[in-house]
Amino acid sequence: MRVLLVGGGAREHAMADAVSRSDRLDRFYGFMSNRNPGIARLTDSFQLGEESDAEGVAGYAAEVGADLALIGPEAPLAEGLGDVLREEGVAVFGPGAEDARIESDKAWAREFMKVNGISNSSGTAYPEFGVFEDAEGAANFMDEFGAPVAVKPAGLTGGKGVKTVGDQLDDLEAAKGYAAEVLEKEVGGKPQVVIEELLVGEEFTIQAFCDGSSVEPGPAVQDHKRAYEGDEGPNTGGMGSYSDADGLLPFLGREVYDEAVDVMEQTVDVLGDYVGVLYGQFMATSRGPVVVEYNCRFGDPEAMNVLPLLETDFLDVVESCVEGSAAETSYSAAASVVKYVVPPGYPTDPRAVELRVDEEAIREEGGRVFYASVNEEDGVLRTTTSRALAVFGSGPTVGEAEEISERCLRHVDGEFHCRHDVGKPSVIERKAGTVESA
Ligand code: AMP
Ligand code: GLY
Repeated sequence: MRVLLVGGGAREHAMADAVSRSDRLDRFYGFMSNRNPGIARLTDSFQLGEESDAEGVAGYAAEVGADLALIGPEAPLAEGLGDVLREEGVAVFGPGAEDARIESDKAWAREFMKVNGISNSSGTAYPEFGVFEDAEGAANFMDEFGAPVAVKPAGLTGGKGVKTVGDQLDDLEAAKGYAAEVLEKEVGGKPQVVIEELLVGEEFTIQAFCDGSSVEPGPAVQDHKRAYEGDEGPNTGGMGSYSDADGLLPFLGREVYDEAVDVMEQTVDVLGDYVGVLYGQFMATSRGPVVVEYNCRFGDPEAMNVLPLLETDFLDVVESCVEGSAAETSYSAAASVVKYVVPPGYPTDPRAVELRVDEEAIREEGGRVFYASVNEEDGVLRTTTSRALAVFGSGPTVGEAEEISERCLRHVDGEFHCRHDVGKPSVIERKAGTVESA
């Protein structure tokens, strides 16, 4: 197979790594906006360019004779790159623009769940919500609702646009102010805001391979969205994540996991032709798993937890999805911990710096490194102002995986910020306790 991978982040580096392990691969090409050194090394050739420029990507796909394209990030999916490549005769792993609305249009996604009655065994699997184009309507909804809410721009914000009462917003008055700001500044690119019931519990992610009708779910993962240790500070794209050897999480039993998968099955069933990864982010609440959001792609960092553990040939799985024949997967029974290295000051006041990475030493520790938003020139690695690279450790327990990830970090030199608490046993015990008492 001649495979083209679109995207240049750490999620795509993990995808590239899984592609390159496949027996089915003949030639491997990349299309990315930054020169990711990990992807550059794994591909036979790559082109630098704007990933959402469908004509540019399609031109490159034709030039290299790609049979199959994997689209990593949400922006090109939302803008219809999948549709354009399919029209050009390339098989695509990733939904078209219409299905990608499950992520790119939060208002549409919530209405979709409501209209189709997406539910868990206790009732609705979505929060109470309202969609508004005027600040007064949003404020009236909050007054009537009278309880804490989450305020979300309807469009894409890289995971940074949501604010919740009790965290970034002091009270409903502050929530009204933020809703007005979202509308006025068109945060997320649209003059629309979603106000929803604040969900309480622990969050978890399930990433499933979808073939148009069925879903093949992977291990549950927990991401850490807040910038600072102890889940403090502003939201980020994700600072690190862990998964456990049994595919569940310390606070997540089989029953709730299965219920969440059932919710994803209902969703894919109604969508009818969804091909690619459906990422379900859930809150384990006292009324069962409730969808916090859907994404139309692998998670970043969560892709890095599961793809290194995938034992099935990745291209076989992808091909099954594209051909509409149910994919089968198996993962090694190991826990994983991923920790992001980000520039100092990230995300509010980031400063690009130089990093030195001893990959050989990281491999000797039994870990891995996945590059994100860095550029390599003349052997010098420079961060941008986004997440720079991630280290991955795995082992029989989360604690052992965490120790490996920490040992790997010692081989990354330079001024950087990292959440060392991700996957630490004390933090995980606290999380498990939180939900039991909820
Ligand atoms: P999202 O971009 O939708 O993933 O939202 C970012 C973060 O905001 C999520 O990871 C949650 O921590 C939080 N969040 C979003 N919606 C809700 C909600 N309805 N209730 C509680 N927290 C939420
Ligand atoms: N880890 C959150 C995301 O990929 O959106």
